[in-house]
Amino acid sequence: MNIDIVIIGAGAAGLMCAMAAGQRGRSVIVIEHTDKIAEKIRISGGGRCNFTNLHCAPDRYLSSNPHFCRSALSRYTQQDFIALVDRHGIAWHEKTLGQLFCDTSATEIIDMLVKECNAAGVEIHTETSIQKISRNETGYHLETTRGELTAQSLVVACGGLSIPKIGATPFGYEIARQFGLKIIPTRAGLVPLTFDPAVLEQTKDLSGVAVEPVAMKAKNGKIFNEALLFTHRGISGPSVLQISSYWEPGESVTVNLAPDRSVFDWLKSQRQTQPKTMIHNTLGELLPKRLAQKIADELQVTGRMADQSDKVLQTVAARIAAWQVTPSGSEGYRTAEVTLGGVDTNELSSKTMECKNVPGLYFIGEVVDVTGHLGGFNFQWAWSSGWCAGQFA
Ligand code: FDA
Repeated sequence: MNIDIVIIGAGAAGLMCAMAAGQRGRSVIVIEHTDKIAEKIRISGGGRCNFTNLHCAPDRYLSSNPHFCRSALSRYTQQDFIALVDRHGIAWHEKTLGQLFCDTSATEIIDMLVKECNAAGVEIHTETSIQKISRNETGYHLETTRGELTAQSLVVACGGLSIPKIGATPFGYEIARQFGLKIIPTRAGLVPLTFDPAVLEQTKDLSGVAVEPVAMKAKNGKIFNEALLFTHRGISGPSVLQISSYWEPGESVTVNLAPDRSVFDWLKSQRQTQPKTMIHNTLGELLPKRLAQKIADELQVTGRMADQSDKVLQTVAARIAAWQVTPSGSEGYRTAEVTLGGVDTNELSSKTMECKNVPGLYFIGEVVDVTGHLGGFNFQWAWSSGWCAGQFA
């Protein structure tokens, strides 16, 4: 069968690209190896899909070339996607920090993409695997479990390695290697961090404690002011997921547990106004009680506030402003929201997402070395890169 475009992967980027290319009158087949489409959209945002962010901008993305995403993000913007959502009558709200979620269900976003694809004449073939890809002067020849296909353009939208149990495979990277493209080494991002048994021994009774907000500073100086959650294996919560994308094994992370005030000044004023209060109870007004007690125990500070010297209060304040811990690792691809690294952006046109040296071959979405922060940025990259490729493939 001869068609214009084969897209591999019926996820966010693949469906957006299919819709855009189909609307141009191109014949499009999307090949998906699982029996469902867009599983990550379905489970995203706690089932409500954080589908974009009002503050999308290149500085919300990690990549070996931080400028690469600029073109696609400016050509298909968050406002463009919001307009599409509005045209389909999908109700949404801003939760926090510009993060837009469906009011009802993430499946509305899937249904919207499927409707658009159907209207544009796109065919979606699920439970279909590709066994071989070759290229000649007529285009890309694919041997699949449902027969052979030849297409002028091949769009790789297979996503990254996170959550293999719902369909993630390394196939996109394998195709890149087959065509001689460079891959930036991959690793899990937006993922909880784990502690070794010695550190866990100290934090195990904090499991379930949430601190909000904390400030965590990334290597590039970015500060994430979001929640932190102690777990039975380490730390999680939005600030930790954000920092995990910047964290390298062996590095420590520093957390300001009370970023919205000078803790030393606050403790001094508490000493004046509540001199008879035990110090761990005072700390319990600032932090969750279990954490407050833990810090007091670790620093061996006890007694009433009136009995605490400036030096003691300074030590306590310093610990709260810069709690330091060295994670032993991360939860890995099993729970990671994204995969960092991927197809080197130097191999691709930032305008079309086509390979510079392999005409007709496109890479879009998470398989490319562009990874967003937590908060709807990854879906926006999928929409933007998918839409751009859909204009040219
Ligand atoms: P995506 O993974 O969506 O799609 C790839 C498709 O290719 C899949 O359907 C897969 O089965 C298929 N495939 C893989 N190998 C194949 C093969 N060999 N042959 C054929 N098909 C193949 N982002 C965000 O912005 N807001 C959010 O709320 C969330 N929430 C969230 C929650 C969880 C639990 C996860 C894991 C991730 C998120 N994300 C997110 C990230 C977001 O889901 C992710 O960045 C996008 O889905 C990436 O879109 P892609 O289309 O590139 O890959």
